[in-house]
Amino acid sequence: AKKAVLGPLVGAVDQGTSSTRFLVFNSKTAELLSHHQVELKQKFPKEGWVEQDPKEILQSVYECIERTCEKLSQLNIDISAIKAIGVSNQRETTVVWDKYTGEPLYNAVVWLDLRTQGTVETLSKRIPGNNNFVKSKTGLPLSTYFSAVKLHWILENVRKVKKAVEEERALFGTIDSWLIWSLTGGPNGGVHCTDVTNASRTMLFNIHSLEWDVELCEFFEIPMTILPNIRSSSEIYGLMKAGALEGVPLSGCLGDQSAALVGQMCFQDGQAKNTYGTGCFLLCNTGQKCVFSDHGLLTTVAYKLGRDKPVCYALEGSVAIAGAVVRWLRDNLGILKSSEEIEKLANEVGTSYGCYFVPAFSGLYAPYWEPSARGIICGLTQFTNKQHIAFAALEAVCFQTREILDAMNKDCGIPLSHLQVDGGMTNNKILMQLQADILCIPVVKPSMPETTALGAAMAAGAAEGVGVWSLDPEDLSAVTMERFEPQINEEESEFRYATWKKAVQKSMGWATG
Ligand code: G3P
Repeated sequence: AKKAVLGPLVGAVDQGTSSTRFLVFNSKTAELLSHHQVELKQKFPKEGWVEQDPKEILQSVYECIERTCEKLSQLNIDISAIKAIGVSNQRETTVVWDKYTGEPLYNAVVWLDLRTQGTVETLSKRIPGNNNFVKSKTGLPLSTYFSAVKLHWILENVRKVKKAVEEERALFGTIDSWLIWSLTGGPNGGVHCTDVTNASRTMLFNIHSLEWDVELCEFFEIPMTILPNIRSSSEIYGLMKAGALEGVPLSGCLGDQSAALVGQMCFQDGQAKNTYGTGCFLLCNTGQKCVFSDHGLLTTVAYKLGRDKPVCYALEGSVAIAGAVVRWLRDNLGILKSSEEIEKLANEVGTSYGCYFVPAFSGLYAPYWEPSARGIICGLTQFTNKQHIAFAALEAVCFQTREILDAMNKDCGIPLSHLQVDGGMTNNKILMQLQADILCIPVVKPSMPETTALGAAMAAGAAEGVGVWSLDPEDLSAVTMERFEPQINEEESEFRYATWKKAVQKSMGWATG
């Protein structure tokens, strides 16, 4: 017999850099009912290049949806109770495809990719020193990280794409656009759109007017005809065209870091969260004010939860490599059998024994924005073993977070009294304790760490025409939290942090030196 008491359910696609997930929540209790996850391949065709197959990404979404629906059926939960689907995604990753065939015209160029380092240097010289219009319009520093330079590179270097643009067959999108277009029918009526949060990561979007910016498109030489339509983060974009959830509206869309901010209920000015995924991203809600950083943080769109709702902004500290360093230890060095094993290894030693690991695989992002940096492991002796290196890798994630938290505190004036965290890595208790020790403030994590998916589900369920989720923070006040208090003294913490900073200085300049 089918269970009848659950009420409306909402699904969420969480398409991250390392894996894809589909999760289904009860809209009344925010309880996670079932989910499925598929790990994704990353291609490194040349040093510094990072690509993914857009078709594999799409396939992984379909697979996760189908498998989750099977699991729900096994739990006697009727999948017709799923009333809406939200999408959250890795941001900036750039796809160009053919609107008539639905085929990608090139691999997705992933946000971590460094091939545009030269393009960035050339373009930087064209920005007048006294008028950094790119920064003032987008809130972003000119960097390899954002979509505009990746798209510029693709248009210049991939003949197939050039031709498709001339023949008016090409469409551009970040992963949200690629997925929503494909899931709503692709060449047969697919909806070509993006939301304001994802658009704000392209470097073509004016975060004040909330529109594509003509001057920026000219500067990056991007034809505006290939850009998706800009929508809010919570409205019906279209209906699922195929699969177990055919006919269900897609009605929420947020870049994954914005989704986590929503999922953590950080709706008030000054509320912040840090998500540990492939990278690590600390976002602080600044309300309807667009705050510009003096300390290397980005200004970005936090969310706009409905067509007629106000836009909210965030200050963001972006760290490129967090979970990715664990995957590197597993896949490139082979010192871990699984990512989870790092906790056991680190626990065996409980210290790095003076070993410091700066995982600047894609240069350094906030607060340095230094593309010439490369990864280093230093402080090695014959005593150093793989356990110490594993510990140093975890410590690196914490030190990088400390750097962006320090920047955030300086920009905001009022230091954070605790850090709200989420994401896959927060299941690692050693990491969480280390984080509290290195920050010298408590770290607080919700017992259900899938806040990114939760945020996307909330946006989808709250959309006009769906209306099954209320965004009142009181509704989720029952969420249980786990707290990690600092356990070492501040002096020791400061000493380790100062040594880390020395190591960071040594990582700079490798790529050009
Ligand atoms: O900006 C990149 C970010 O959105 C990637 O997120 O979860 O794959 O680390 P994640």
